[in-house]
Amino acid sequence: MTRLGILLSGRGSNFRAIHGAIERGELPAEIAMVVSNVPEAAGVVYAREKGLPVFAETSKGVPRAEFDRRVLGVLREAGVEWVCLAGYMRLLSAEFIQAYAGRIVNIHPSLLPSFPGLDAQRQAFEHGVKVTGCTVHLVDEGLDTGPIVAQSAVPVLEGDTVESLSARILEAEHQLYPATIARLVRSR
Ligand code: GAR
Repeated sequence: MTRLGILLSGRGSNFRAIHGAIERGELPAEIAMVVSNVPEAAGVVYAREKGLPVFAETSKGVPRAEFDRRVLGVLREAGVEWVCLAGYMRLLSAEFIQAYAGRIVNIHPSLLPSFPGLDAQRQAFEHGVKVTGCTVHLVDEGLDTGPIVAQSAVPVLEGDTVESLSARILEAEHQLYPATIARLVRSR
């Protein structure tokens, strides 16, 4: 079983989708550690409910390199092989990325390279695109850059709001992310 580390900062719905896929036997992996830089995040609450190992400490006021070194220690101790960012709203240090080079994945709610950064769904909506979606990519030192592994297209419909569009993209994320992680861990 491939040992996954999940990094999250918020609601954790992608984390729950990954966890669900594992429980249903669709993803041959186990969650060895859940890390959050926001201790009160809903994703942390869910991880604790499920009895998963959690490291949750605020990153506020802690230099990036120092925080990431701590997280790296926790992941290594837990034997984590792949790191899955699931709404982890922080750039990773170069040292962290080198430590897990090629084995850090992220999900982003747009068809990259369009609309990187925060509020990608709103950016796409306000730009007036007719098709947007989500992207799973390997993580490098840039913001939502790095080799694209998989994408799912989502139409922008007549009468959509940012909220309705975001909800439709999120559904696509919940399908794409676990399936892509499964493909990656099977192929390595
Ligand atoms: C998701 O929409 C994810 O794609 C996005 O944050 C949300 C987290 O939701 N990530 C990024 O924008 C990364 N740049 P979740 O906590 O419910 O999974």
